This record gives sequence, C-alpha cells and structure tokens, in this order.
Amino acid sequence: MPSHPIEDDQIDPYEDLAFVPAIKNMPRAKNGGKSKQRSTPARRLNQEQLTLVAAEQDEQFRYTYQAGRLEAAWLYESLGYFHMMKWIDDILRVVKGGKEASVYLCKGNQTTGADYIAAKVYRPRKFRQLKNDHLYREGRQDLDGQGNAIINKGLLHAIAKKTEFGRELLHTSWLEHEFQTMQLLHEAGVDVPKPYASGNNAILMDYFGDEVMGAPTLNDVDLDHGEAKQLFERVLHNIDVMLAHNRVHGDLSAFNILYWDGEIVLIDFPQAIHPDINQSAYKIFQRDVVRVCEYFARQGVRSNPYKLASDLWQRHHHSFTPQINHKILQEDRDDERGLWESLRNA
Ligand SMILES: Nc1ncnc2c1ncn2[C@@H]1O[C@H](COP(=O)(O)OP(=O)(O)OP(=O)(O)O)[C@@H](O)[C@H]1O
Ligand SMILES: [Mg+2]
Repeated sequence: MPSHPIEDDQIDPYEDLAFVPAIKNMPRAKNGGKSKQRSTPARRLNQEQLTLVAAEQDEQFRYTYQAGRLEAAWLYESLGYFHMMKWIDDILRVVKGGKEASVYLCKGNQTTGADYIAAKVYRPRKFRQLKNDHLYREGRQDLDGQGNAIINKGLLHAIAKKTEFGRELLHTSWLEHEFQTMQLLHEAGVDVPKPYASGNNAILMDYFGDEVMGAPTLNDVDLDHGEAKQLFERVLHNIDVMLAHNRVHGDLSAFNILYWDGEIVLIDFPQAIHPDINQSAYKIFQRDVVRVCEYFARQGVRSNPYKLASDLWQRHHHSFTPQINHKILQEDRDDERGLWESLRNA
C-alpha cells in the first residue's frame, strides 16, 4: 500500500492505526521475520481492536490530557509501557505536532527524577511525512526495536524489498537512530535534551519549557546582538563536538534548536549521519552550517558559512569525498547495490 504524505489539517492522523509499529515486549514483536503473518489485514485489525479495548479497560493509565478515542489508543500503545515502568505519571498536553511526530508534555516519575518529560511519539508510519531517508541511511546499519543492528537475512530482505513489514522495521530503525544519537551526544556534552528511554514508537527526553508552553524554536526568537553572538558561538561549539564524535545533525537549522532561559538545545536527530560513512556527508554538513549562519545573519551576526564549514570539517580530518568500505554497504539493498559493486570492484 503506498504511503501518502498528508497535510496536517487534511486528515485526523489518528484515524487509521493500521501501521503503528509493534510494541516492544509484546507478542507481535516476537514474530520478527514472519512478514506474511504481520501483513495480513485481519491481524492488524485484531491488534488495533486489542489496543483499543486494552486502552479502554486499563484503569491504571488515566491521564489529564483529553485525547480522542483513537488518539488515546495510539498513546496507550506508545506510552502505556512507560507509564507501567514508572517513567511517567501523567500526560498533560500536546506540546507540538511535527511532520514526523507529536511531542507531549508528561509528568515525570521518581524513575526519571525529572518534573517534566517530553515524549516524542512518532506518527503512525502511514501519516509520517517521510524525509528523504534514503540519503541519510546510506551505509548505516538498520536497528531493531532493542537498538541492535539488524543482521537477520529475512529481516534485511524485507527492508530491501520494501515490504510493509520492511517499512515497519525502517520506521523503528529511524527512531532508534534518533535515540542512540541523542545518548551519544548527551554523554559527549552536546546541548541536547537528556534521553531517558525509547521504544513503543516513542522517545522520552528532558522537556524544555514550562507548564504553559514549550520552549520556542530559535527561528521564532529575536535576539539582541550580544546574545546572538554568544549563542552563535555555542551552536558552532556544539557542531564541533558533534564532529569530534563523528556525527552530523543532517537537518540542523533554527527550526531544530530550542531556546529557553537564554540557553539553546538541539533536537530532532533521526537523520544524523556519520561523516565518513556517507558520500553526501560534506554536502549535508555544509547545508547544516549554512542554515545556522543564515539565521544568525538575520540576528546581525555576520559569518562566512562556506569557509566555516570547510574549516570545521578539516579540523576533524574528515574527507570531502569519503572512502566508503564496501563491507558496510548491503548488496541486497536496491539503493546500495550500485555503490557496493563499484567499490568492491575498485
Ligand atoms: N525536548 C523537548 N522539549 C520541549 N519541546 C520539544 C522537545 N522536543 C521537541 N519539542 C517540540 O516538538 C517539535 C517537534 O519536535 P521534532 O523537531 O523533534 O519533531 P519532528 O516531527 O521531526 O518535527 P519537524 O518535522 O517539525 O521538524 C519541536 O519543534 C518543538 O517545538
Ligand atoms: Mg523538527
């Protein structure tokens, strides 16, 4: 079935839950590889019905936010586990609906030790506006719901053939990449929200904002000159540390930087790439730097983005044309076979 990217206001994104990925630790997830079973409509319907009934009957998971019936089922499937594991106590409200995910403000629990938690809940795959993920997936391993590289041939085949099941796996992998990147960067001291847990189609992380509103993104903020200069340096420092840890954000701009209490925090990492394992790495990196510089130029901070990008890149000894080892490419993946063959024969 084709996926149709849709405009936010055209359709209720919770109308059809058929493609909500399996919950980690639920029986369906253990069917890994049995794509036939997973793709029969009857089974999906069953899963939806079960989720709805479970959500309605679960006396334990009552929350403040007034969700519609189908949205409630989606939230139950995505966040019920985190509630059960005492990561969150309550869902308070929607912070923002993005193209890929909706972010909810949750009350933390003693497990997280945080008053508030942001839960990024990915849209059901069918309603996710797909970024051009092929570009970012080049050479990177796909991850399963436990965050491990997928090595099972059947699963890899489903991904390569883009079956419904394969697309579900990719959806999960996209989310796990975001979580693992956030973990790595948070530990490296980059200004990113502290990630707490992932799975069940959602990521829990530190929340920026207060009870009333989430932190605005930088593009909605006008800075005075002194602060703009200081924050520009801060963003460049973050980019520098990311490069030192072999990560390029891949979609960095003032739209993916939150501003709160004079501080900034970088968000939205599923498309992050390794600078040496993607042939377009430098172009993607340069685009990140240019977009950041464009915002700060509007705030009166002048710079030379192309020189900046090139200097940063060289400082970390990354190649402008990465030498990709064919072993990291998958010959049975349509999108990588050509590259795989050319490198193997080189
Ligand atoms: N940790 C957080 N604390 C507060 N608000 C957040 C947090 N993370 C995300 N948000 C809010 O949710 C929005 C969407 O988050 P994010 O950019 O990660 O998802 P997305 O679906 O990829 O969005 P888009 O496609 O619009 O970039 C952000 O623009 C921001 O307003
Ligand atoms: Mg975003």
